[in-house]
Formats: sequence, C-alpha cells, structure tokens
Amino acid sequence: MSHEKIAGVFDEWATNGRGEKMEAGHGDVVEQVIEKLNIRAGNQILDLGCGIGWATRILAQKGPGVQAIGIDAAPAMVKRAEELSPLTIRARYEIGQFENLDFKDGKFDLVFSMEALYYATDLKKALAEIFRVIKAGGSAQIVMDNYVGRPTTEGWAEAVGLNMHHLAAQDWILAFEKAGFANVRCELVVDRRGPDEDIELKPGGAFKDMEAYRAFCNAGSLWVHAEKPS
Ligand SMILES: C[S@@+](CC[C@H](N)C(=O)[O-])C[C@H]1O[C@@H](n2cnc3c(N)ncnc32)[C@H](O)[C@@H]1O
Repeated sequence: MSHEKIAGVFDEWATNGRGEKMEAGHGDVVEQVIEKLNIRAGNQILDLGCGIGWATRILAQKGPGVQAIGIDAAPAMVKRAEELSPLTIRARYEIGQFENLDFKDGKFDLVFSMEALYYATDLKKALAEIFRVIKAGGSAQIVMDNYVGRPTTEGWAEAVGLNMHHLAAQDWILAFEKAGFANVRCELVVDRRGPDEDIELKPGGAFKDMEAYRAFCNAGSLWVHAEKPS
C-alpha cells in the first residue's frame, strides 16, 4: 500500500466534508482520552494522522506554552486543518508519513493519534519512528476504532479499499513492546453519547442492522498507552 493511495482516499474524504464528520464522530472518545493525559506546561505534542486537525487544536490548548503538531499524508486534510486553525493557536500541520517522521530524536513529550495508526504502510517502521521522536519518559497514546473483537471492523479494509492492521489488543501490546516501549497496556473507551437510535443505515453500508451498529458502539475504542523508558 502506497502513501499516494492513502492520500488519494483521504484527500477525497477531506473535500467531501468527512474530516468534519470524523470530528463529530470521534469527538467524545478523544475528549475522554485527552482529559486523562496530564498534559503539562510547555509540552511538545505530535498528532499522527491529524486529519483536519481538530484534536491537534484541542491538545495545543491544554496548557500554557504547549505546542502541538499534526501530520497527515493527505494534503487536502492538511489544507483544511490550516483553514480551520486560528493564527493565535499553538498548533500547526505538516504533510508527513508515520514511517518517516521529519523530527529530531526525542522532540516530543507525547505522541497522540486517533483512528489512524492501523493504516501504517509499514507498522514496524512507524513504531520505530514514534519511539525515536518521543523523549525518554514520554509516551505514545494511540486510539483506534478498528481492532479484532470489535464487531464489523473486520470488513473495513475491503470497504475503504486500503490495507489496515486489524489486530487484537494483545497484538498491539506486543508490537509496541517490540519497538522498545514499556508499561504498554490497553483500555476501552466507550462514547458517552451511546448509539444514535435515529441513525439511517444504508443497504450495503458498514452495519447490516441496528443490532450490529449497537454492538459496534458498545464495544468502544481501543486506547493503547505506551511509555518510553527514562
Ligand atoms: C480515519 S482518518 C482520522 C483523522 C483524524 N485523526 C480524526 O480522528 O478525525 C486517518 C488519517 O490518517 C492519515 N494517514 C493514514 N495513513 C497514514 C500514514 N502512513 N502516514 C501519515 N498519515 C496517514 C490519513 O490521511 C487520514 O487523514
């Protein structure tokens, strides 16, 4: 899977307003996660696969002097992120790839990501890069909606037309440990709004019926915590 193919799909999402739809859909889970992150004054934060940059902007406002950088392979996502970002905010965006992070070793206190890492073209390389750019004592906090055990997600790669690392929580833990991370653990975060009972399910869409949709919602997002040893 090439980065050009990923950018092609997500550029289209950005121009069709799906960046904003993801903000609405992922917003509650990300709010719950960010509230628990203990972001401190002056922290340097990287948001991997930032899309239109809404989470990057939230992260940048979590403490005095905090700097947040969002990277994304899709130029149209980065363009939209820049359009939506006030000049006074300490958030900025770059076109970039998980597998070749254009930052010096140990730059970031925190690498955050929502719903993006499983698209990595080379997961081992991406995890090595994440490990490299985090400071000793810093952490990666990675959230994903697609994992083994979450109903319907096994069919997403085919539906979207992109490769996805569809892994179980235990396999994510092993992958992070192999990259050098310590104290790796997972937890599930359930959207507090619950399933939208008025949702209109389309024939041939992600959910075959309301029961499948509710099962997906009730399973929650997978949050991987991983620390870089001091
Ligand atoms: C499902 S979207 C999530 C966007 C955003 N985090 C959100 O929650 O709204 C995944 C994003 O990751 C980006 N992406 C996927 N694979 C990537 C890679 N290997 N390098 C950089 N960005 C990538 C895509 O371009 C896309 O914008």
